[in-house]
Amino acid sequence: MANTGLITPSLAAQLKSIVGDPFFLADEENLNHYGHDETERLLFLPEVVLKPASTEEIASILRICHENKIPVTPRGAGTGLSGGALPHLGGVLLSTERLNKIIQIDERNLQVTTEPGVITEVLQNAVKEKGLFYPPDPSSRGSCFIGGNIAENSGGPKAVKYGVVKDYVLNLEVVLPTGDVIWTGANVLKNSTGYNLTQLLVGSEGTLGIVTKIVLKLIPFPKFDLLMLVPFASLEKASEAVSAIFRAGFVPSALELVEIDALKIVSKMVDSTAVPVDDSIAAHLIIEVDGNNMDVLMSEMEQIAELLTQFEAGEIFFADDAQQKAELWKLRRRVAEAVKTSGYTIEEDTVVPRAELPALIKGVKELGKQYGFHAVCYGHAGDGNLHIRINHPTIKNSHGNEEMTNALTALFELVKSLGGTISGEHGIGLIQKPYMKTVFKDANLYLMREIKKAFDPNNILNAGKIFDLTD
Ligand code: LAC
Ligand code: ZN
Repeated sequence: MANTGLITPSLAAQLKSIVGDPFFLADEENLNHYGHDETERLLFLPEVVLKPASTEEIASILRICHENKIPVTPRGAGTGLSGGALPHLGGVLLSTERLNKIIQIDERNLQVTTEPGVITEVLQNAVKEKGLFYPPDPSSRGSCFIGGNIAENSGGPKAVKYGVVKDYVLNLEVVLPTGDVIWTGANVLKNSTGYNLTQLLVGSEGTLGIVTKIVLKLIPFPKFDLLMLVPFASLEKASEAVSAIFRAGFVPSALELVEIDALKIVSKMVDSTAVPVDDSIAAHLIIEVDGNNMDVLMSEMEQIAELLTQFEAGEIFFADDAQQKAELWKLRRRVAEAVKTSGYTIEEDTVVPRAELPALIKGVKELGKQYGFHAVCYGHAGDGNLHIRINHPTIKNSHGNEEMTNALTALFELVKSLGGTISGEHGIGLIQKPYMKTVFKDANLYLMREIKKAFDPNNILNAGKIFDLTD
């Protein structure tokens, strides 16, 4: 249950004087809007929503909340899928949306310094204008914030060649839960100076501090890319082909899998006929290669296509121009939203060593039969990162549901037995907490709890996310 009535009139007046009247919101419409993100069908109302505009304002808010033990939930764009931004304890919802400036693109050093409330795609486009590339590209890149990407250590399709957010973060300005402000590291490419607080903050899901400035590494933008869509009559064969591509020596810049049911739903939602969806197809692989030499890329694509004949691939569709490529990526990026709308409300973010993907998919289908749900699989197959969307006839939230919790515990036991883990890029947040014990020993959880206590002695900042202090 949410703790309501924590913010006394005197505290409210203090908070209002920090952010200014228009940025202190407590009306029903705003509380509802900021009470949910993209996770399942969950809603938790905060008591107030604050929209600070600077590091200093955030520090002042946290100082007050620390002193008065008021829960604070930080929020980026609210596109999260594990409930990290859900204010499940009430209190203050702190939105970073007004910290939305790209501070500096440093072309000499190939770095960018930005505030957290910049939309990821806006940042990518700004650096691209200078010939530079920031690769991590979650499907929600058109609406998610770079700060949220840091909080979740996001990935996306390009991660398979270029790595995830953590591989690009050099330095962070962070407001600690006590109101102190630190920089975690330095703007350098190598750093062996003490514990790596930068990397500890990346993926900490807003539990250790609020990131207010971010320094990212950039790389030169590759000149060319080629994209193909490969149909398979069997899901098993499609998933077996994935690891064979890497064993043969190729590193695609994207290697995605989409099961046919998901493609049917998304094609209908965006009213697209770009991809033929016929009943003989079970799944597609989307394969992209990129680089600076077109002849090399053409040859790589041909060799990959040849290899895929061993896995009974169907007729390959090559995206010819920028428009076809964009259409195909649009379909892929909107899968999560489309399947959610049609009843697949529960999303898992499993990750296994890539060659174990066929075993994972087989296990998911068996669990579906056993527990009475239908699952569609899609995601970043090249990383072994499989998104599993679950449609259960009556259970729409896994959070707080015993039957679904049992089903998911069985899923994560399978994932663990294959050498994998719970989340590749969406985080643990609120809804994956019950399964941390499936993959970690008590000693792991002890260390995490003690780190949390060192950063946040009063347990105010995104408390009860990732784990409970009482776990
Ligand atoms: C995707 C998001 C859901 O891969 O992670 O589409
Ligand atoms: Zn994803």
